Amino acid sequence: MNLKNKKIVITYGTYDMLHEGHLKLLKRAKALGDYLIVGVTDENYDRSRGKLNVSQSTQERVDAVKALDFVDKVIVEKHKKQKAEDMVKYDVDIFAIGDDWIGAFDYLNKYTHVEYLPRTEGISSTQLRKKHIGLIKMGLVGLGRDTQAFVDEAAYVSSIKLNRIYADDFLAIKKFSKENPSIEYGHDNYEDFLDTHVQAVYIDTALKRHYTLIKKALEAGKHVLCENPIAMEKKELKELLSLAKKQKVLLLPALKTAFMPAFNQLLKEIEKGDIGEIKEVRATRTSLYREKNYPESFIAQGATNILSGYPSLLIHKVLGKRKSTTFFDQGDDGYDTSNLIVTTHKNGTVGVARVATGAKSEGDAVISGTKGYVYIPAPWWLTKEFYFKFEDSHKSYKFKYEFEGCGLRYMIAEFASLIQRGKHTSQTLSPSDIVAISRVALEYKDFREQRAENDTKEK
Ligand code: CTP
Repeated sequence: MNLKNKKIVITYGTYDMLHEGHLKLLKRAKALGDYLIVGVTDENYDRSRGKLNVSQSTQERVDAVKALDFVDKVIVEKHKKQKAEDMVKYDVDIFAIGDDWIGAFDYLNKYTHVEYLPRTEGISSTQLRKKHIGLIKMGLVGLGRDTQAFVDEAAYVSSIKLNRIYADDFLAIKKFSKENPSIEYGHDNYEDFLDTHVQAVYIDTALKRHYTLIKKALEAGKHVLCENPIAMEKKELKELLSLAKKQKVLLLPALKTAFMPAFNQLLKEIEKGDIGEIKEVRATRTSLYREKNYPESFIAQGATNILSGYPSLLIHKVLGKRKSTTFFDQGDDGYDTSNLIVTTHKNGTVGVARVATGAKSEGDAVISGTKGYVYIPAPWWLTKEFYFKFEDSHKSYKFKYEFEGCGLRYMIAEFASLIQRGKHTSQTLSPSDIVAISRVALEYKDFREQRAENDTKEK
């Protein structure tokens, strides 16, 4: 179509479960001009603006809008500043949007004419989701460091009903459910807990119990989200992943950073190549966390086991497959209190992961390239802002995002959304990502065992 002398109208929205209200709005928008462009928000952008419960994927929503014969072009909206850019790019005459947004887009008047259109009463995607999508019944396994935060954050994911817990200590369960009235049912027998209608579980126990608890849950056909690492042996990790595949259920480690909107945006921005060829990724994660009532001593599980998943995630996502791994660890009493893990990747690129439970350091991350670097301030794993920096400091720029709560809700939302869509793996944290990330800690275990054996031989 020749767009010269045509009146171009643009509108934006999520368009989840395309409904009558959307159709009316889109027809009204089209009636304002000759050519209608619809911007459909992508999942990551929706999450970053607090829309956690969208039920269809970006592609499904784009396809539904594309199928409308009066829509001329569909684009994907990826970030907040895009609207202003699109007004210029498409030489837009009218920006149209429902009047539930009245005033919110007045700032676009400097690029185009902004028109607020009447919204259809009595229908919304939120209502449809409530009516048509059953709630995912979810249960807690164990009473660990993050269980309380998980309950608090799951409350924001409306597709989940979290009302059950299993833990060994019945008195502790009673106390926990008293403090959390939404947790109505408590079990101190795991088989009984798995026998209920629970469809998905979140496991937060001592690391060495993960394998058995996950295995039983998968065998019972439950989807599993478990604190990282999900297993302590390579063969157990493999076994669990293939069991999940066989059972057609989801198995994900609870690495919250992987699901944060800003972290995913960071990965996309790096791909654009502004910092040149990437040479090195360095990330630090330390914690002096001590908790008296934790069932197993947290620290005694080892700094690498508890913390290496986070730096390994960033290094793996940016540099890909590992070629070699070297450990520089400290600590005694059978566990490490700090570890400097140096990995090599393709083209000689290097990853430097620093973890510690017995020393405190700046928890930042740097991605170095041939033209510049990205700096993610502490705590980088709760990604909020990152800086693209260059030798000529005038060229440097920054990205800033807000996230709600402690950041767990994005991971819970993704877990729920995958279950609802019938997906058994996540693209954000695929089974091969999980293997690559978890294997750092598992290889460290082999390294320690080998070293102990050599020491004994020498004596
Ligand atoms: N819209 C409308 N009438 C409705 C619902 C939405 O006119 N009953 C319009 C909105 O004003 C917006 C567009 O449709 O211009 C896309 O809105 P979207 O947020 O995707 O739809 P909602 O149904 O409001 O979604 P949710 O319930 O998830 O907020």
